[in-house]
Amino acid sequence: MTTCALWGLETALVSVEADVSNGLPSFSIVGLPDTAVSEARERARAAIRNSGFEFPLRRIVVNLAPAERRKEGTGFDLAIGLAILRASEQLNADVDGLCLGELSLDGTIRPVRGVMPRVLRARDAGIERAYLPAENAPEAAALGCDAFPLRTLRAAVEHLDGRVRLAPAPTPPPATDPVWDVDLGDIAGQDTPKRALEIAAAGGHNLLFIGPPGTGKTMLARAMPSILPPLEPDELLMASAIHSVAGLTDPERPLLAARPFRAPHHTASRLALVGGGVPPRPGEVSLAHSGTLFLDEIAEFPAGVLETLREPLEEGAITISRAGAAATYPARFTLVAAQNPCPCGRFGDVEAQCSCLPDAIARYRSRISDPLLDRIDMRVAVPRIPYRELRERVQRESSATVRARVRHARDRMRARLAGSGRRCNAEMTKRQVEQHCQLDRAGEQMMSAAISARRISARGYHRLLRVSRTIADLAEGDDISADHLALALLLRGHT
Ligand SMILES: Nc1ncnc2c1ncn2[C@@H]1O[C@H](COP(=O)(O)OP(=O)(O)O)[C@@H](O)[C@H]1O
Ligand SMILES: [Mg+2]
Ligand SMILES: [Zn+2]
Repeated sequence: MTTCALWGLETALVSVEADVSNGLPSFSIVGLPDTAVSEARERARAAIRNSGFEFPLRRIVVNLAPAERRKEGTGFDLAIGLAILRASEQLNADVDGLCLGELSLDGTIRPVRGVMPRVLRARDAGIERAYLPAENAPEAAALGCDAFPLRTLRAAVEHLDGRVRLAPAPTPPPATDPVWDVDLGDIAGQDTPKRALEIAAAGGHNLLFIGPPGTGKTMLARAMPSILPPLEPDELLMASAIHSVAGLTDPERPLLAARPFRAPHHTASRLALVGGGVPPRPGEVSLAHSGTLFLDEIAEFPAGVLETLREPLEEGAITISRAGAAATYPARFTLVAAQNPCPCGRFGDVEAQCSCLPDAIARYRSRISDPLLDRIDMRVAVPRIPYRELRERVQRESSATVRARVRHARDRMRARLAGSGRRCNAEMTKRQVEQHCQLDRAGEQMMSAAISARRISARGYHRLLRVSRTIADLAEGDDISADHLALALLLRGHT
């Protein structure tokens, strides 16, 4: 019997064999963590009995090989149950596919998390057939696997022995064109914030909108998915697999239709945001992988929670360790955040008077720590716009137009970074920045003036160059001009 273990998104095929021999009745399982063994034993024993089979009153040893590495989760039950039935000749056929599923005491098969990465692993090993809980079968079918949907242990045996044949799950229909919440063409004015959003989408740079309530910050951020390029095939598989591990796969559409856009509320727990738990599951930062993490009202998030973002922002991944075991999840996202300028929200508003004390404003702003702020490439004011402009019926540039430009710029980046495992400018290593982000004389002068005047860190310097590279790419420029750098400096802001 073949099943598959999962740590984070790391997978390993596991072979399950049962040995039934004469001797005092006993039942042991080798290769599972101690805490999991007794539970798996109880489930297997009860499920076998309650499915109308006999639980052999002999000496039973089930081995999950390789045994050295402790395996998480409950997806091994089905393989354990079938292995015992096979060894006791209550199942006659050999099982030639991946077995995943949790048994409940009454013999029904319950869904498990993380089917997709495990089916992908099996596929790499040439296994193109899977026996799965009915709820999970679409996930495997979407990957082109022959996925047999099982509801009970008895149904599994009858199918395998050829008594009652099941049909494989149909391949889910291909994703249709996504429908976007907000189109850039719906947003009046705000040319600079829109420009920043386009640059963020093209290069993957992090962006903060600052402005009074009601100026369209949330609306702008929500337009982000509509201008992002489609997922590349490998990104699609990874992002869909992460959702599968989180147990968030939509059975109607197991593969994501577009880049993820995650918008956790500021009351979300640290666990929900960065992941963890027993067994561990990915958090919002990983669900946003290859897409956008939107933190609205970022100053309302607890400081401790925001600090945990530094690791994924720097590494593109997050490692969750507990009880000696560690799981690493990918977490390479573009951060889009929104913030009021002060607690009352009216600071800098031409139409209203701010009532906050300077101390309160300073404290409010410092909720985003300097190290976090330093990783935000663009901090852009979103001002209140005149009512007249809001009501104007004018033809504005649509998301489709902007998306075409973004895609074009991405193609340039991808060609430039081909073979390095990096896809967009924000992901460039320092060496790649040095190689691809040369400034001309005027640019050098502007940069050195800015660094001394604005105390820009080394990290900030590299980030400025990456953003400048994206601005040049959007303008189809091979070289970064002083104008490109000037815009990057402007968008970086003074805070
Ligand atoms: N620039 C704009 N163009 C069109 N509608 C806008 C604009 N700014 C605000 N609105 C309208 O005001 C509502 C509130 O905007 P929102 O994005 O929630 O503001 P904020 O997040 O800055 O408080 C939006 O749903 C939209 O209807
Ligand atoms: Mg808002
Ligand atoms: Zn105020």
